[in-house]
Parts: sequence; structure tokens; C-alpha cells
Amino acid sequence: MLNGCDSGGRKVAIIADRHVADLHLQKLTPWLPPECVLLTFPPGEKSKSHAQALSLYHGLATAQIERGDMVITFGGGVAGDLGGFVAATWLRGIAYIQVATSLLAAVDAAVGGKTAVNLPEGKNLVGVFHQPQAVVIDTDFLETLPQREFLSGLAESVKHAVIRDPDFFAWHEQHAAALVNRDGDAISTLIERNCEIKADVVAHDERETGVRVILNHGHTIGHALEHLLKYELRHGECVALGMLVENELASRRGLLSRADADRIRALLSRLGLLQRLPHSVEPQAVASLCGVDKKVVGGAVNLVLIRGLGQPERVSDVTPAEIVQAIPSIQ
Ligand SMILES: NC(=O)c1ccc[n+]([C@@H]2O[C@H](COP(=O)([O-])OP(=O)(O)OC[C@H]3O[C@@H](n4cnc5c(N)ncnc54)[C@H](O)[C@@H]3O)[C@@H](O)[C@H]2O)c1
Ligand SMILES: [Zn+2]
Repeated sequence: MLNGCDSGGRKVAIIADRHVADLHLQKLTPWLPPECVLLTFPPGEKSKSHAQALSLYHGLATAQIERGDMVITFGGGVAGDLGGFVAATWLRGIAYIQVATSLLAAVDAAVGGKTAVNLPEGKNLVGVFHQPQAVVIDTDFLETLPQREFLSGLAESVKHAVIRDPDFFAWHEQHAAALVNRDGDAISTLIERNCEIKADVVAHDERETGVRVILNHGHTIGHALEHLLKYELRHGECVALGMLVENELASRRGLLSRADADRIRALLSRLGLLQRLPHSVEPQAVASLCGVDKKVVGGAVNLVLIRGLGQPERVSDVTPAEIVQAIPSIQ
């Protein structure tokens, strides 16, 4: 699994989701050097915090992790974002490897070098770009992943297909049942193609000054929903809802055909990703929160809308009223 990852006499600190460590740490041990320290954090999005990062820094200090040592993050997207952020900031940045154990991390989060923690004001507001030395994906880990988490990962895959690859979108339609039933061949194909798409986009624009922004399709609204719902819904579930709202908005603008919007909704529905947004969430609150999202430039809300499959378009003049009008489509 970590074959070929020679720690070269370096110490290794594993920053692991506690639940994942309990389930799978023994699978890593054959590949670890003798000098190894395990630092765990409680599972869940709430661990993407400065408080949790601080506690991990104390662990690194106690273990005397130095510049030339290494971090391994072990878990889903939260482990990668949090552990990557800690690795990026410890001693001004030390090397790290991501071992992805959730489908969402395998198809998206582990690739690309974005790390972050959340603030009470919003999600991922503090972070840095810090590329891992390697990303390790082993589908054996997924055997213990709860179905809801698995489906959440599929949302990011649909997003990649929608913005970049119409054929891959059609493949999802053809293999929807196999995916939901977690067919091994379908999962392997899915992970491979997603890593190709993400790596290709990131290779063209590592720091998100251009094309990388298309990966944020569904995310400006999705992040606002996650935050307003206090992280009760999964990240992928909110991304699916975010895509639906953004497609509704695009259709109302005449940018996206109703037929294409319906096709995407139908696929998300078959993949078990059509959550309903509670009516307690005020559309105006979603619109307001989009104003503190990182993807805001000069006060205007930027959304990555689509004209059709494989045709993303950055739109920078979205008004709060348009967002408010589109929200009821998911309530
Ligand atoms: N950096 C990026 O480019 C990027 C991209 C997409 C998403 N993200 C971030 O990723 C996070 C979501 O990732 P996630 O959905 O993996 O969340 P997560 O890391 O919280 O994992 C979801 C749940 O699954 C459990 N889990 C993980 N692997 C398991 C396994 N093999 N067996 C049993 N349980 C397992 C975890 O304990 C957790 O309860 C969000 O914070 C999101 O913002 C980052
Ligand atoms: Zn995402």
C-alpha cells in the first residue's frame, strides 16, 4: 500500500480520523518506519477548526517533528484538509502524504493540494495550497464506509463529469445502479477517471487563478448550505443541492436548457442525492452567506454555472435575488 514510500530515516506523524484509525491503522503499520507517532482527531467536519489544528501542533511539538520529517494524513476529506493544513503550516511547511479512505477523498479531496480549516463565519476560509508528495488510494478501505458517505462521494464525481466530460456523465447514467451497489469495477473506473480530471485541471492552474475555478461548480451554494445546516448534511449532499440551485438559476437566466438541468437532476436522484432543504433555512440567509464565501471578488457573487454538459462558465454578476428565487427548487 505505502510500498515505495521510503521515509529515509525520517520520523512520521500520522494525523488520523480516530474512527478510521480504529478500523484500519493496522493496514498501514507494515509500511511505517519505527519512529512513528499517531495523532488522532474526532471524526467529522467540526474537527476542521483552529482548535483542532492547535491540538495537533502540540502533538507534533511533543513528538519533536522536525522540518525534514513527514506527516501522513489518514482518513477522508476532513483528515486531508485538516492534516494537510497542519503539515503546511508546521515549521512553515513539511512534507506530507495523503492516504484517502473515503470515496469523496479518493475522487476529489485528496488530489490538488488544497488544505483548509473552517471559521464560525464560513467554511474553508483559512487555508493554503500545499501539494502532498503522494496520494494513496486503496479501495479496500471503502468496504467499511457507510452508504451515505459513499453516495456523498458520488456527488463530486457527477460534478467533475458535468463540468469536464459529457461521456463520463453518460457513463454515470449507464452505471448508476452498479455505483449505488458499490460494484468493484465501477468504483475503480470511477476513481481513476476522477483523479485524471482533477489532476488535469489542477496541472493547468494550481493556484486557482483561472480554469481551476470550474471545480467550484455547486460549491458556492453548497458551502453556504453546509454552514447554515451546521454540517448536518454531508459535503457531497450539499454539493448536489448546490448544483441543483445553480442549474435552476442558470435555467432562469436562459443559459442552461431545462432538458439538461432535468437530466442532471435525474442522475443525482438515481444516485440517492436528492435531499430536501429544510424550510427553516431562509433563502435570504443562503444568499447572504454566499457573500462571505472565498469565491467572492470585488463584492459580486461569482458562480460557476454551466451552459450544458462540459460547458462551465464563470458568472460574476449574480444577484442575491436570483439566489433567493432558485432556492425553493430544492425545498
Ligand atoms: N481539498 C479539497 O480539494 C477538497 C475537495 C472536496 C472536499 N473537500 C473537503 O472534504 C471534506 C469531506 O470529505 P469526506 O466526505 O471524506 O468527510 P470525512 O473525512 O468527514 O469522512 C466522512 C465520514 O466517513 C468516515 N470514514 C472515512 N473513511 C472511512 C472508512 N474507510 N470506513 C469507515 N468510515 C470512514 C469518517 O470517520 C467520517 O465520519 C469536507 O470538509 C470538504 O470541504 C476538500
Ligand atoms: Zn467539494
